[in-house]
Amino acid sequence: LKLALLFGGRSAEHEVAILSARSIIQALDKNKYDIYPLAISRTGKFLSLAESKNILQGKQKNIPDLSRKSIITAQLIEFLTTEIELVFPVLHGPYGEDGKIQGFLDTLNLNYIGCQVEASVLGMDKAIMKKIFAYHKIPQAKFSILEKNYFDSADLEKLYQKYQMKLGMPCFVKPANMGSSIGINKINGFASFKSALKDAFTYDQKVILESYIEAREVESAVLETADQLVVSAAGEIISDHDFYDYQAKYKSGNSKLLIPAPISASVQSKIKQLSRQAFKAIGARGISRLDFFITEKKEVLVNEINTMPGFTEFSMYPLLFKEAGLEYSQLLDKLITMAMA
Ligand code: DAL
Ligand code: MG
Repeated sequence: LKLALLFGGRSAEHEVAILSARSIIQALDKNKYDIYPLAISRTGKFLSLAESKNILQGKQKNIPDLSRKSIITAQLIEFLTTEIELVFPVLHGPYGEDGKIQGFLDTLNLNYIGCQVEASVLGMDKAIMKKIFAYHKIPQAKFSILEKNYFDSADLEKLYQKYQMKLGMPCFVKPANMGSSIGINKINGFASFKSALKDAFTYDQKVILESYIEAREVESAVLETADQLVVSAAGEIISDHDFYDYQAKYKSGNSKLLIPAPISASVQSKIKQLSRQAFKAIGARGISRLDFFITEKKEVLVNEINTMPGFTEFSMYPLLFKEAGLEYSQLLDKLITMAMA
């Protein structure tokens, strides 16, 4: 099977996507798949196959932002549409996980792994995701949505007071469209509110505010096969940071994953039920990771869905299935089989 692997990409999760792609390419069975890696730079330029291979093999560390013309021209389109049978968009965040690349692939009539356009949009945009979850009565933290063009920035204090009343303090400020906790800040007063808004608005025109909940963080992995929706047991994240932020996720090395999470059978089963419900609520396909909070009162709240979860060998998604007896490369085989069905 001729499989193109897209990685890198335009989002702030560019580096995470390179790490995911490196693990994936190492694990894919070379007897089953002819693999064509295509690196995408931070400005959206597609590199040649040879250059892309160098990056995956670590011969070259970063995807260069080429000032010259990239191969996204007739040549790339011709290559994708005549040579490639399946595309794996190993891309996290905006332009990769939000439906944009999926729309491009649909336009070319190409098969790809993971969610289609609609589910990608719904899963990526936290503001829309939360509204959909609310519609389906999926329990979640209280939230508000703030759009850059629709609020009076001269009256920030009033706005702060409104959120303080509605959401309580501390609370989270998050760009609607981003992943890996990039641009997320926990705030506890007017000064941090102002700086958090500024930070979040550098990533998106739309920001969400969300009540902070004293809770344990657990995650589950969902895999759709031709005839069933498989949900893993949940795993727990133990982070020594104030919350599970970018540093804790990829830099500090002090976070621990407990797989399976030491939680009661009834909480596990609640998580499974909500995982299915949330997956179906956005109309996801193939793959997703669900992130939850478990409150002190043992309530389970959905935090978010990730339609292209981190996929390094040390990422929660593949580790959850490994615990269930599905090795990393078998998991890839299943995703591929599903996408080709
Ligand atoms: N957005 C990152 C890659 C994750 O959800 O794992
Ligand atoms: Mg996410």
